[in-house]
Amino acid sequence: MKITVINGTEKHGVTYKLKEIFLDELREKAEITEFYLPKDCPNFCVGCTTCFRTDGSKCKDAEYTQKIEKALLSADLLIFTTPAYVFHATGAMKAMLDHFGYRWMPHKPAKEMFGKRAVIITQCLGGGGKSAAKDIKDSLSWWGVSDIRACSFKLMSEIEWDKLHEKAKKKMAGKLVSVAEKMKKIDYSKPARTNLLTKCKFYAVRMLQTNLGKTNPEYTDFKYWKANGWLDKERPWK
Ligand SMILES: Cc1cc2nc3c(=O)[nH]c(=O)nc-3n(C[C@H](O)[C@H](O)[C@H](O)COP(=O)(O)O)c2cc1C
Repeated sequence: MKITVINGTEKHGVTYKLKEIFLDELREKAEITEFYLPKDCPNFCVGCTTCFRTDGSKCKDAEYTQKIEKALLSADLLIFTTPAYVFHATGAMKAMLDHFGYRWMPHKPAKEMFGKRAVIITQCLGGGGKSAAKDIKDSLSWWGVSDIRACSFKLMSEIEWDKLHEKAKKKMAGKLVSVAEKMKKIDYSKPARTNLLTKCKFYAVRMLQTNLGKTNPEYTDFKYWKANGWLDKERPWK
């Protein structure tokens, strides 16, 4: 199984430790590719809209974003991690997600996304872990991912992890370990089930694209949807 991890910080802090505990449960079975932000996607989207008008390969930051996109599309399981910064995901995570605005359903969603599973891991001291997870979940669900599990933690930042016994580490991240155990048992040769909410979004956008195509058949998102057969009988899920 292939796992792609997007780390919202380069720091080897609490969020990193939690992610390691999660991955330790899966390492044996998995081929893991990791990205650390901002290092692996250092620039902001400048709003040139080239990706919306053409495609992501023409982005000024394509040397970074295309590597990430390739790893996301080929993975069976996507992991996103972030500490809460002022009640949200890190700016680096938001900057990366902005680069994939063109993959939101009203534009050019990748059909591979509809069958994927994702886990979001967030850490905060007092509050904001859930809203940080939502920042990521918003993008994932609009990319077409249905199976999204969020694990939000409120651990102390001064934990001396090296002095902790393996069992104590796992106990601290109990929820994460049980999610990892569940993820380990999944048969990844089968895509995740596309849920009703995702299907509702798809059909609403389908209606929108059909209407946009009537006014302007050269509209790029309309052409993309049409080429995929989604305005006819084809669907991005199985
Ligand atoms: C810029 C910044 C903003 C933060 N905002 C919040 C916050 O809104 N809520 C919170 O509980 N903790 C906040 N924190 C604390 C971190 O979420 C917390 O220390 C976390 O454990 C850091 O994870 P890390 O060790 O993986 O970097 C903030 C920290 C920084 C540096």
